[in-house]
Amino acid sequence: MVDWDKRYREATEPPFGTLPSEYLRQVLARSDFEIGSALCLADGDGRNGRWLAGQGRGGGQGRGQDRGQERGIEVTAVDLSQVATAQARIADGLSGIQSDRIAADLTQWTPDEGREWDAVILIALHAPWAEREVLLHRAVEWIRPGGFFVIEGFSARNPRASECGPADEDRLWNVEKTLACFPGFEVVEAFEGQTWLNEGPRHQGTARMVRILVRKPAE
Ligand SMILES: C[S@@+](CC[C@H](N)C(=O)[O-])C[C@H]1O[C@@H](n2cnc3c(N)ncnc32)[C@H](O)[C@@H]1O
Repeated sequence: MVDWDKRYREATEPPFGTLPSEYLRQVLARSDFEIGSALCLADGDGRNGRWLAGQGRGGGQGRGQDRGQERGIEVTAVDLSQVATAQARIADGLSGIQSDRIAADLTQWTPDEGREWDAVILIALHAPWAEREVLLHRAVEWIRPGGFFVIEGFSARNPRASECGPADEDRLWNVEKTLACFPGFEVVEAFEGQTWLNEGPRHQGTARMVRILVRKPAE
């Protein structure tokens, strides 16, 4: 089991980089994805939540910067690591960004009664599947009707093809098992396949990834 506080404390640079996940950028660039609030689960030292809360278009830096919705999204972020959360708060402050960051274990944490977000974002959580499955079933209640769930993680299929990510199959993602946690949701996209990551020292190189965007039915 990873000691996340130790990993973040001892890192000489942000382990997953300072830019957001490429997949999250792609999702924000979609014409059918528009949100005003997001709950970023396992947000680590905050690269994804910080980008969502920052200014600019969803498509991000460089090419495609004119695509996607304006960001400035109201972000709530939760992560197990006290160290990462403290680092994230400092980086948010240096970027002039306001977000609500909570250091908590997602196997225990629940939002205030009735609290809902336009999107729940879960990038690179590789806890044992039993824990993730329970979390997904709970987190569907935290999305407003018509809202989204975004998931990205390393794939359980052919994991040896990945140059990074966990090796233990129980910590990897499976499209079918994940989609089964979202009964009644529209599957906007669900992919498993090979890509190339350039996201800090720990997410670097060829990677087999699962990328999922599902939408809760509007009431
Ligand atoms: C691979 S890192 C990804 C961090 C961030 N999502 C990113 O993409 O930069 C996994 C994160 O999951 C967090 N984590 C692991 N188990 C958790 C749990 N039970 N509750 C909350 N966070 C957890 C760790 O602290 C770590 O920050």
